[in-house]
Amino acid sequence: MMLISHEDTRMLIKGTVDKNFRADVLEGMASSPREIPARWFYDRRGSELFEAITALPEYYPTRSERSILLKYAGEIAAMAGPGRAVVEFGSGSSAKTPLLLSAISPSAYVPIDISGDFLRESAQNLGKMFPSVPVFPIEGDFTHPVALPPGIQGTRSLGFFPGSTIGNLLVPAAVDLLRAMAETLGEDSMLLIGIDRIKDPAILIPAYDDQQGVTAEFNLNLLCRINRELDGTIPVEAFRHLAKWNDDHARIEMHLEALYDVDFTIEGYDFSMRRGETIHTENSHKYGPRDVDVLLRAGGWQPLADWTDVDGQFGVILAATSRSGASLDESV
Ligand code: AVJ
Repeated sequence: MMLISHEDTRMLIKGTVDKNFRADVLEGMASSPREIPARWFYDRRGSELFEAITALPEYYPTRSERSILLKYAGEIAAMAGPGRAVVEFGSGSSAKTPLLLSAISPSAYVPIDISGDFLRESAQNLGKMFPSVPVFPIEGDFTHPVALPPGIQGTRSLGFFPGSTIGNLLVPAAVDLLRAMAETLGEDSMLLIGIDRIKDPAILIPAYDDQQGVTAEFNLNLLCRINRELDGTIPVEAFRHLAKWNDDHARIEMHLEALYDVDFTIEGYDFSMRRGETIHTENSHKYGPRDVDVLLRAGGWQPLADWTDVDGQFGVILAATSRSGASLDESV
């Protein structure tokens, strides 16, 4: 039998993350148009900046979702029932978790996040707030099925995926993720998911291009991360933050636009960008109420109920795994 320490596992995961970051950046910067997946925003600084974004006056999603969870926690609890293990995907600071945990009497809390330090910190805080709920933090990438800790195997679980993080993914990847979550959560599980709705670009654009420039800093921080972790020489001041609505794909896109022609290297590889050329750094897809149902069903989930805020800006949906055994095109 091979024994592997917690520290070894941590280093293995970290090594994998670094390798994936390197591959995503080098490939994405060499492709046309240039693009880097949004998941790489979240180093320590990026996670902090995102927390600051959630408090911005223009960034409505966090407030809308909180108001929904606050108002309908009782209904959600009644439908989920007590004793479930709450598994949060991309838990970050776990800011919305107390709203859920205090309502549903969970048997355990399992936060999964790619940003390890942040994860352990917020897991500790949650543990203090809910001393009777065992917390099992997992540092890792939830886009693939994750093995849940032995402590909760056999427990019915409730996946929690707030914040419209699913909006970062293209539709096929979103479907794959929903399926991976169903596999991670196991039989008789439920999923509580927050998904931002399609609305007037006059509201959407400022939410991704705020007055104080916090979102700009969040976007530009990716270049700082590349410089630091991948030995890059990118002149950050040569770029500006850009947010635009892509109506064909119903999504906000964030880009980093070169203000003038620039040359730089990343891990020794040469890159040149012309003035006006961009690096596409994020998609934030928005969904109508019907779109959400189609998306969930495609991902192997039956929508059970959905809630919205007074302005209909944001949606929270509770879904259950389609009955195991039933073939997908037969189940109702
Ligand atoms: C965490 C992906 C939901 O798309 O609204 C916020 C990230 N980017 N401002 C979003 C984000 C710019 C956020 N998600």
